Amino acid sequence: MPPLLELRNVKMYYSTSRGVVRAVDGISFRLNKGEAMALVGESGSGKSSLAFTIIRLLPRNVAEIGGEIFFYDDELGTIDLMKMSEEEIRRKIRWKKISMVFQASMNALNPVLRVRDQMIEPLVLHLGLSEDEALKISEEALRSVGLTKDVLMRYPFELSGGMKQRVVIAMAIMMKPKLIILDEPTSALDVITQANIMNLLKELKTKYNLSYILITHDIALASEIADKIGVMYAGKLVELAPADVFFYKPKHPYSQKLLAAVPTLREEKTIEYIPGDVPSLITPPSGCRFHPRCPYAIKGKCDKEEPVMKHIEESEVACWLY
Ligand SMILES: Nc1ncnc2c1ncn2[C@@H]1O[C@H](COP(=O)(O)OP(=O)(O)O)[C@@H](O)[C@H]1O
Ligand code: SF4
Ligand SMILES: [Mg+2]
Repeated sequence: MPPLLELRNVKMYYSTSRGVVRAVDGISFRLNKGEAMALVGESGSGKSSLAFTIIRLLPRNVAEIGGEIFFYDDELGTIDLMKMSEEEIRRKIRWKKISMVFQASMNALNPVLRVRDQMIEPLVLHLGLSEDEALKISEEALRSVGLTKDVLMRYPFELSGGMKQRVVIAMAIMMKPKLIILDEPTSALDVITQANIMNLLKELKTKYNLSYILITHDIALASEIADKIGVMYAGKLVELAPADVFFYKPKHPYSQKLLAAVPTLREEKTIEYIPGDVPSLITPPSGCRFHPRCPYAIKGKCDKEEPVMKHIEESEVACWLY
């Protein structure tokens, strides 16, 4: 069976007054139907930029975009999203096949527009549905996220954070997409609401056989839902592993550091911090981009040659130690 999504050497650079930012710099991975991949990594590693590249919602200052993004669909066949025009993506892909819950999107709901109007607008405007059809779809989507239809008549300021996030998720599943990209979907919520939303996401995944790309800097959250984990560092994917393997035996030194920085309730351990900062993506370090922060860096090798992804047991890892 082909995967649902396959990225091959995907790149996306921004142009800025200070130079070219290599935010997504040669990312490859496959995602199967019904599978959830968590994309983790410190802030500034290019996670959101990768999401926007997949769904092609890019700002004007893109300097370069390249690679292949294959999407395998029963209805459309195999398509390379990179070869589709903006217009085609908007008409055939976005919301219908791939949707996204944007970072902080619950706070982007317009406070002075009823939920009803915000939900039906894209359906009527972009997809040409009648208002009645759009309302029916909205009601059904609200029901799937555990809200009643009277929410339609409310204003966002009348809803709790958890309810707003449910509305945003309802909007993402409205058109029955195959893949949802969730960018930090619970970071603005308290822990109890966070847990409820994660349970909802798990439920929807099973019910509709959805695939997720869950972007988060919170590894504990990733562990709750992910079938596999992708670790991004400075615009690159440095490890890709089945979740159980990853949590038991992370292979890349950066992955090990990320996990060591997660507090646990069960065992006494000293929380480690990763020294230094995510490097500039305008002038990233030579060789392995992690070398200035890596305790195992091999002088003359890691600072000069870029490691490529290698299969090691069930994982893939880009590190000269392997
Ligand atoms: N519109 C933009 N223009 C220029 N640089 C950007 C833009 N958006 C993000 N960046 C830069 O791209 C890099 C990756 O950012 P981002 O994708 O937001 O990372 P993450 O989601 O992992 O925190 C950062 O260096 C960020 O400053
Ligand atoms: S390639 Fe070298 S610097 Fe990079 S993570 Fe591996 S050991 Fe560390
Ligand atoms: Mg982000």
